[in-house]
Amino acid sequence: MRWITARRRHPAAGYAIVLLTLVAIGLGYAALTGAGSPASASAPAPGQQQIARGQEIFARNCASCHGLEAQGTAVAPSLIGVGAAAVDFQVSTGRMPAAEQGPENVRKPPVLDTSQTLEVAGYIASLAGGPAIPSPEQVSTAGADVAVGQELFIANCAQCHNFVGAGGALTYGKFAPALTQATPTQIYEAMLTGPEAMPVFNDTTMTPMNKRDIIAYVTATRTEANPGGFSLGRIGPVTEGLVAFLGLLLFMVVAALWITAKQGKPREHE
Ligand code: HEC
Ligand code: HEC
Repeated sequence: MRWITARRRHPAAGYAIVLLTLVAIGLGYAALTGAGSPASASAPAPGQQQIARGQEIFARNCASCHGLEAQGTAVAPSLIGVGAAAVDFQVSTGRMPAAEQGPENVRKPPVLDTSQTLEVAGYIASLAGGPAIPSPEQVSTAGADVAVGQELFIANCAQCHNFVGAGGALTYGKFAPALTQATPTQIYEAMLTGPEAMPVFNDTTMTPMNKRDIIAYVTATRTEANPGGFSLGRIGPVTEGLVAFLGLLLFMVVAALWITAKQGKPREHE
C-alpha cells in the first residue's frame, strides 16, 4: 500500500482514478446488458448430441406426464408431431413443465433455460417433425402493416383476447390471457400451434405476412397503452437512466478535479 500513499498526491492520480472508474462502469454496463440479451433466438439444426441431451431433459421433466416416448398418458396428450414450435412456446412461457396439481397452465417464469428448451424442442421435432420455431426474420415486424394487423386481430383474436389484447374470460371457466408479455416469437408460435382452447392459424388460414401484421399490431398497442413511468418488465429505460446518471456523475467528478487542479497555480493567459 506504500506506493499508493506515495503517488496519491501526484497530479495525474485524480485522472487515473477517473479513468479506472470509467472502465469499471463500462465493464459493469457490458455485463448488465450482455446478461439480458437473448442468446441468439434462432434455432440451429439440432445435432445428434443436442437431441440426446433433449431426450434426457425430457425424461427428467416431462415424461412423468407425457410418457417416456412422448406418446401421451392419461394425464397429458401425446407430443408426437406437435413440433419444436409448440415445445418452445409451452416451455419458454413457463407453462411446461406443468405443476403436478396446478389450476390452469398459465404463463410463469420458465423452468428450463433457452438452450435446454431448444434441446427438448429438437428432441420432440426429431420424433415426427411438426411446425419449427420461427426464425427472427419470420417474426420481424419490419414492413408489417399495423392497420391490417388490427383488422385481422379484431376478426380472429379479439373474441377471446379482447380488443386491446387485455385478455378475457372464455366459456368452461377458461381464460384467454392478456397479450402484454408474449414476445413476437411466442405470438407467432401461439398462432402456429394453438395452445389449449386457442385455434391453430396455420399458414393457409393466415399467411406468414399476416401473422407479422398481427404481431406488429399487438406490440404497437402495447407501447401505446403504456402511459409512461416505471414498468418493471421494461429494463430498457432503467439502464438508459442509469447510464445517464453515471455519465453525469463522472462529469461532475472530472469538473471537480479540474477546478481543484487549477487552484494555487497562476492562471495562464489563454
Ligand atoms: C404435470 C404434468 C405435465 C408435465 C410435467 C409436463 N406437461 Fe406438458 N402438458 C400437460 C398437459 C395436461 C397438457 C395439455 C393441456 C395444455 O395444453 O395446457 C400439456 C401440453 C403440452 C404441450 C402442448 C401440446 C399441444 O398439442 O400443443 C406441449 C408442447 C408440452 N405439454 C410440452 C411439455 C414439455 C416439453 C414438458 C417438460 C419440460 C412438459 N410438457 C411437462 C402436462 C404436463
Ligand atoms: C377461442 C379463443 C381464442 C382465440 C380466437 C385466440 N386465442 Fe390466443 N389464446 C387463447 C387461450 C385460451 C390461450 C391460453 C392457452 C394456454 O394457456 O395454454 C391463448 C394464448 C395466446 C398467447 C400466449 C400469451 C402468453 O403471454 O403466454 C398468444 C400470444 C395468443 N394467444 C395470441 C393469439 C392471437 C394473435 C390470436 C388471433 C390470431 C389468438 N390468440 C386467437 C384463446 C384464443
